[in-house]
Amino acid sequence: MPEVNIAGSKAAVVRRGDYQAPSYQVSEVALDVRLDPDNTEVHTRLQLHRIAPEPVAELHLDGESLELLGLQRDGQALAESAYRLTEGGLLLLNPPEAFILESRVRIHPRANTALSGLYHAGGQFLTQCEAEGFRRITYYLDRPDCLARFTVTLHAPQDSCPVLLANGNCMATGVEEGGWHWARWEDPYPKPAYLFAMVAGDLAVVRDRYRTASGREVALEIYVAERDTGACAQAMDSLKHAMRWDEEVYGREYDLNRYMIVATDSFNMGAMENKGLNIFNAKYVLASPETATDSDYQGIESVIAHEYFHNWTGNRVTLRDWFQLSLKEGLTVFRDQEFSADQNSRGVQRIGDVRRLRAAQFPEDAGPLAHPVRPDAYSEINNFYTATVYEKGAELVRMIHTLLGKVSFRKGMDLYFERHDGHAVTIEDFIAAMEDASQRDLSGFRRWYGQAGTPVVQATGSYDPARHSYTLTLHQETPATPGQPVKEAVPIPVRMALLNTQGQRVPLEVVGGASETVLLLEQSEQSWNFANLPGPVIPSLLRGFSAPVRLQDSLDNDAHGFLARHDDDPFNRWESMQDLAVKALLAAVADSSVAPLPVTLRNAVAATLADRQVDPAFCAELLTLPGEDYIGEQMSVVAVEAIHRARDGMKRAIGRHFAKEWTGLYHDLAAAYQRDGLSIGRRRLRNLALAYLIAGEGSSREGAILHARQQYIQADNMTDRLVAFQLLAQHRHHDAEDVILDFYQRWHEYPLVIDNWFAIQAAAPYPKTLRQVEHLLVHPAFDWRVPNRVRAVLGAFAANPTVFHAADGSGYTFFAEQIRRLDDINPQTAARLATPLSRWQRYDAPRQQAMVAALKILAAKPGLSRDLAEVIQRSHPE
Ligand code: BES
Ligand code: ZN
Repeated sequence: MPEVNIAGSKAAVVRRGDYQAPSYQVSEVALDVRLDPDNTEVHTRLQLHRIAPEPVAELHLDGESLELLGLQRDGQALAESAYRLTEGGLLLLNPPEAFILESRVRIHPRANTALSGLYHAGGQFLTQCEAEGFRRITYYLDRPDCLARFTVTLHAPQDSCPVLLANGNCMATGVEEGGWHWARWEDPYPKPAYLFAMVAGDLAVVRDRYRTASGREVALEIYVAERDTGACAQAMDSLKHAMRWDEEVYGREYDLNRYMIVATDSFNMGAMENKGLNIFNAKYVLASPETATDSDYQGIESVIAHEYFHNWTGNRVTLRDWFQLSLKEGLTVFRDQEFSADQNSRGVQRIGDVRRLRAAQFPEDAGPLAHPVRPDAYSEINNFYTATVYEKGAELVRMIHTLLGKVSFRKGMDLYFERHDGHAVTIEDFIAAMEDASQRDLSGFRRWYGQAGTPVVQATGSYDPARHSYTLTLHQETPATPGQPVKEAVPIPVRMALLNTQGQRVPLEVVGGASETVLLLEQSEQSWNFANLPGPVIPSLLRGFSAPVRLQDSLDNDAHGFLARHDDDPFNRWESMQDLAVKALLAAVADSSVAPLPVTLRNAVAATLADRQVDPAFCAELLTLPGEDYIGEQMSVVAVEAIHRARDGMKRAIGRHFAKEWTGLYHDLAAAYQRDGLSIGRRRLRNLALAYLIAGEGSSREGAILHARQQYIQADNMTDRLVAFQLLAQHRHHDAEDVILDFYQRWHEYPLVIDNWFAIQAAAPYPKTLRQVEHLLVHPAFDWRVPNRVRAVLGAFAANPTVFHAADGSGYTFFAEQIRRLDDINPQTAARLATPLSRWQRYDAPRQQAMVAALKILAAKPGLSRDLAEVIQRSHPE
C-alpha cells in the first residue's frame, strides 16, 4: 500500500498537553513471522487488560499499510460488529476487561522503501520501529508508555536467511518443510514497541566476550556481510570501552547475556538502540585503514557508545510520550560526548561538539523550524529528531552537570535509575531526581526545556586601577521564535576566569581564592565585582562553552589576539581565534578591498604555528577557518558569493604568507600510518598544511599539487588519500577528471568509500557542479533507495553554498525536483534533506523568491507525505 495521502487534508497535530494514559496495557506479545520479501505474514497474539478504572467504548490499535487477514478474540473469530478498521488502525468496540487478541496481517517488505517497519534491502530483512514503525508490522498499542514482554518466532528459507535474530535470548530453533527454518527469541525485559527488532539474512558474525564488573559474561556479536568481517575491530573495541565506561562513570552494567549489532547499507539514520539487537548504518560499524578516515573511526566510537548508553537511558528507563524525546536523546548525547572526551582529547572534543551545535542547532533555533527541546506539538514525530532535541538537549544536561557538580550529578542519575527503572517517564521526572539528590532548586532551569531560541549574552567589563577591581556586567536576551513572541530570562552558567597580562589566571577573592568560577546569570542583567586584583586583567568568559548561548563579549582584537595565544581553556583559546577570523572575514565581505589577513590574526596564526607545545589536533582546530555557513550566520543577509570570496582570499593569504611553515609541517609530519591520538592529530595538521599550500597559489602551489598527487597514489590510509583526492578533484586542475575516474575504479566495491566520491563531487564550489550532480544522479552506482547514497549527493549539494544558492535560483529548482522524487520513495529522508530550504529568510530578495517558489513546487506535489508536508508548512506558513 502507498503512503497515506494527506495532500489536501491537514495532517493531524499531536499536542503535548493532550497526553492521556492508555486505557489498556499489553502484558505479553507473541509474534510469529513468515518472512517473504513480497508477502510476509505476521501472526500476533496480544494479552491485553484494562487499566482504566471504567470500561471503555473503544480501544484503538495503531496500524498502517497492513492487510488484515484475520482477527480473533479469545480464540473466536471476531464479529464484524466488534471492530472497525480506520485510517490509522483498528478500533475494538466494547472490549472486555481482559482478553487475548490474535491478528494475522500481510505486509510487503521489498516494496517498503521508506525503511520504516519491516523492510527487505540488500538481501536482508530488517526492522526500524522508532518512532512509529511497529504499526507497519502489526496492529498494536504503538506508544512508548506501553511496555510488554515480547516473544518472536521468525521463519525464513534456510539458504537466503541462515541467520534469524530478534531481541533478547534465542530459546529454540528448528527446521521445517521446503528448506525453511525458524528461531524463537524471548526478551525478558518489558519494552515499548519502538525497541522491537528482528533481522534475517545471510550474515557473517564477529564474536567477542565481555566480563562485567560483577563478573557476568556477555557474548558480543557483530553481524556483517562475510567480506566485512575484517572491518569490525573498531566497533568491537568501542563497544567494550563503552561498557567499561558506563560501569566506571555511572555504575551501570549491561543486563542481557548477549549484545548484538547488525550493520546494513540501507538505513535512514545513524543507528538504533533496539534492546539487545542494535541495528546500525554500516558507516558506523565498518572501518579499515584503507577505507575509513580518522573521522570515520571517531564516528564509530561515538555512535557505538551512544546506542550502548541508551540501554540505561532510553531502554531501562524509557519515555512516556514522544515529546520527552530529549530525555533519552539529549541525555545520551551528553553521555556519548563525555565518553569520547575521556577516550580522546577533551578540549578537541568540546570544540567539535560546539562546532556541530553552531552549524546545525543555532540556525534551526533562529529560523521557522525553531522549537523547544521539549516540543509542544508535532504532526510527524520523525521530524523532531532534530539538532535542538539532540544537541541543545545535551547542552541542557551539561549545564545541570555544571551547576550540580560531578558528585551531585551522579547522585541524581542514581536516584533517577532507582526511581524509574522499568518505567516510562518524563523530563520533569529527570529534573526532579536531580533536584532531590542535590537539594538544589531547578525551577528556573526548567524554562530551558520549554523556550525555543538561543539566548544572546552581552558582556561588558572594566578594570578600576584605583580600586584594583574588575566589574563584569552580563545581560541576556532571547530573540522571539515562531509562536513564542515573549521570552523569559533563563539561568545561564558562565564559567569564567580573569587572566593577568602574563596570561595567568588570578585568584578570585569572592570564591575563596580559586582562579576559576561559575557565575549564574539568572536575571536579564547582573553585575559582579572582583576585588583586590594584582593588576589589570582580561576576562575569559564562557569557558568550555558552559552554556548554549551567543556571547558578545565587547573585547577588542588585541584582547582576542592575547587570548588566542594565552587562554589556558582550550575552547576559549580556539574561540578567540575564530572571533578574530570572523571579524576579519566580515570586514572583507563588506569591503573587498580590505586586507584578507589583518595583522592581529596573522600574528595569532604565526604564534600558533610557532608553538611547539600545542597538541597537533588542537593546533589544526586553531588554524581551521570558520565555515561559510557560520560566517553567514553572523550577517543580517547572507552574502553568498562575497563570503565565499572572502574566505577563499583568507585561505590564500594564510597559505602564501606561511608557505615556508606549511611546507615544513608537511614534510616533518610525514609518518607511516598509526591509529593513536597523536598520529591522528599529526595527520590532520599535515593535511591542513597541504590544503593551505594548494590554496596559496604561486610557486608553492605547483609543488603542493605534485605532493597531493603523490599522496593520492601512495597513501597507506583513507584519511590521507581522501584529502588528496578532494584537493585534486575540487581544484580546477586539468587532471581532476582522471583522478575522479581513478578513484571510482579503485573503490567501486566499497559503498561507504563511493559515498565520499559522490559527496566530494557534489561539494565542488563551481557553477558547473550542478551539471555534474545531474550526471551523478543517473550514474549506475546511484540508487534512490539507499539513504547514504542520496545524502551523499543531495546532502552535499544543499551544503554547497555557492552552487545551492546560485543567484539564478537554478540550485533550488533542481533540488526541489529531486526532493519531490525522493518523497515517493523515502519521506523521512526527503523531509530531513529539505530543511535547508526553510532558511529562505536569511537571503536576499531574489533568492528568497526562488526558495519560496521551490517550497511551493513541493507543496503542490500530489501524494505529498506527512513528513515533507510538515517541514514545508512550518518553513513557509501561508
Ligand atoms: N534512537 C536513535 C535512532 C533514531 C533516530 C530512530 C530517529 C528513529 C528516528 C538513535 O539512538 C540515535 O540517536 N541515532 C543517531 C546517532 C547518534 C550518535 C546521535 C542517528 O541515527 O543519527
Ligand atoms: Zn539516540
